[in-house]
Amino acid sequence: MHITQIGPSNGEWGFVGEVDGIDLTRPLTPPEVAAIERGMDRYAVLVFHQQFFTDEQQVAFSLNFGDLEAALANVTRPEDRRLKLNIADISNLDKDNEILARDDKRRMFNLGNMLWHSDSSFKATPAKYSLLSGRAVPRTGGDTQFADMRAAYASFAADIQALIDPLICHHSLLYSRGQLGFDTFTDDERIAFAPVRQRLVRHHPVTRQPSVFLSSHIGVIEGMPTPEARMLIRDLTEAATQPHLTHTHRWRAGDLVMWDNRTTMHRARRFNDGGEIRDLRRTTIEGSPTLLPEPIPA
Ligand code: OGA
Ligand code: MN
Repeated sequence: MHITQIGPSNGEWGFVGEVDGIDLTRPLTPPEVAAIERGMDRYAVLVFHQQFFTDEQQVAFSLNFGDLEAALANVTRPEDRRLKLNIADISNLDKDNEILARDDKRRMFNLGNMLWHSDSSFKATPAKYSLLSGRAVPRTGGDTQFADMRAAYASFAADIQALIDPLICHHSLLYSRGQLGFDTFTDDERIAFAPVRQRLVRHHPVTRQPSVFLSSHIGVIEGMPTPEARMLIRDLTEAATQPHLTHTHRWRAGDLVMWDNRTTMHRARRFNDGGEIRDLRRTTIEGSPTLLPEPIPA
């Protein structure tokens, strides 16, 4: 296995490694798993090509890195799910493999993936890794972009770092989808998507590097008026996603891209989702809370 850096170099570490010389569809040895973890700690995003997974193989590969988080926290009813296993359906298809209608609630909801975010930051236990497998990809468009939140934190002036170091944010799908004017949540969804608390600055458990835990799911900063909080988050997000801090992944079928949600943000880019099929499937590894669980003060 060999890793080449393909993203911007942002200091003493690298960003985005392209890996060759390994077949992820078969069982891995402990040293192989350890080498991938080391690559993740260094590059935060790893790109593998020619990995033609079945769903079972994708789950088996993912379990090398921790427990899977439940793939159910969205607006698709269980009986309408296309995928059988614990895999998030990142596609524009319904359970009969038909392209979702323009006004389908699931399509509207999925459009939120085009906002910069960190997966499951709206869960009390946010995600560690996401593993996204490209099964069918459009001819043009539909890229995925990544931004390095370690480099973003390091780029902030000392006064900004001092301002954000102690801050606690509230994250919810209601906030990210609300930014797009999507507000047709059922009462059950409003309960399921109740905001959770996260630190705005966190440290990687292995490298101890600080990073800024930004996400479009943020809607509130504790102790700050909401317009001021949202403006600060916008400013930080704009600074953190400048082109020199980002990498664009152009999909080919068989690609497996894995990223560390603790130290990166990502977003989907547009494509002709009414005319072309884009079938990506995501397994997600559970991380650990950024705070001790405490209720949000009313
Ligand atoms: C995801 C996601 C982006 C994309 O799978 O979590 O945000 O390009 N995907 O589909
Ligand atoms: Mn995502």
